Amino acid sequence: MRILLIGDGGRESALAMKLKDDSRITAMYFAKGNATTEVLGKNVYEGNVEGLCRFAQNEKIDLTIVGPEATLVDGIVDEFKAKGLKIFGPKQKAAKLEGSKAFSKKFMQQYGIKTASAEIFDAYQEALDYVRGQAFPLVIKASGLAGGKGVVICDNLNQAEATLHDFMIRRVFGDAGIRVIVEEYLQGFEASIIAFSNGEELYPCIPVKDYKKVGDGDKGPNTGGMGSVAPNPQFTAEHMADFRQNILEPTLKGLKAEDLKFKGFIFFGLMVTAKGCYLLEYNMRMGDPETQVIMPLLENNLLDVILACLEGRSLELKFSDKKAVCLVMCSGGYPQTIETGFEVTGTDKVKHSQVLFAGANFQGPRIVTTGGRVLNLVATGETYEEARRKVYEDALPVNFDYAFYREDIAKF
Ligand code: AMP
Ligand code: GLY
Repeated sequence: MRILLIGDGGRESALAMKLKDDSRITAMYFAKGNATTEVLGKNVYEGNVEGLCRFAQNEKIDLTIVGPEATLVDGIVDEFKAKGLKIFGPKQKAAKLEGSKAFSKKFMQQYGIKTASAEIFDAYQEALDYVRGQAFPLVIKASGLAGGKGVVICDNLNQAEATLHDFMIRRVFGDAGIRVIVEEYLQGFEASIIAFSNGEELYPCIPVKDYKKVGDGDKGPNTGGMGSVAPNPQFTAEHMADFRQNILEPTLKGLKAEDLKFKGFIFFGLMVTAKGCYLLEYNMRMGDPETQVIMPLLENNLLDVILACLEGRSLELKFSDKKAVCLVMCSGGYPQTIETGFEVTGTDKVKHSQVLFAGANFQGPRIVTTGGRVLNLVATGETYEEARRKVYEDALPVNFDYAFYREDIAKF
């Protein structure tokens, strides 16, 4: 079987690692891949939907798996299916649940999915008038894709007015911010749950804790994720039952009623408050760095699971009782301005962890940094502390100029 995996992050490295020993797979291609995927297969091409489709046809790809959201929102699944190519992911219409926060909020409201109360605005003046009558804090979100930066928690009216001005008048995120959602602020802890969809049912994986803020103690700006832990130690069996009843099941009902059913991943970004689980967002893909800690604990064969979903068969997901920890090593300056091109050394001295490259690639024989989140160290253990000790010990010999990471991942 010839596989094409789209994406170039730590998530794609984790998926590739999970697939690499499957004897049914005769070739793996990555578009555009990174230093890990280069070793596991062939990094090939970064192109638009059309280019990827042509590549899949020319190379007789049997199965394509999509990592990042942008290609899904661009309609890659519809295009591949129209050409008779097998692909795992939601069609464009369903990808809108991630691509448009206004669309997903309306969907949540319509199908009784527990979420923060919110209003949607297209007109700047109306949004201003509304926030002037609200209590603070409140949350303002750009409706479109803004690379994870389109959400601002506003502590006061000045900040809310400035945010609306940035989004709707200055258009710092272009068209993504023309429409905004103004939302009730929820206090609690966050959890990520990713489910496989076989078109009829949703099968959730273990809950994950993602460390979103750049600094220790959850300080500083949001990032793509500085580390992750599975299972999320704060998320109890009661929370899971609450999630299933008030979020997962009504979501499935809505997907069916709106003809949004698909075969792929769906990610639930949750806020767990004293009043239970609330849905903050859907992502129509796997999470990064959630995937990095789910894959080592998933006991099923990943290709079997994906093929079962594509064929509409039911699943029985099995997870190890172990704990997994992922530590993300970043380029100095991330998530703001970074420099790239620094050599990564010392990964050969890593003893206990899986090294998953993300923003790093080969330059001749050397591996150099290419992005903000450079690499992930992932370890499992009988306890969180054991897994945590392994990744922090393994981080010591790994070096590139201006490298940094959080010191408090899995330190509860
Ligand atoms: P989102 O992209 O909607 O998941 O928002 C990004 C991040 O903003 C979330 O992971 C939360 O940390 C925070 N956030 C979003 N919505 C809310 C809310 N209603 N109350 C508190 N924090 C929120
Ligand atoms: N870790 C959150 C995401 O992948 O969007």
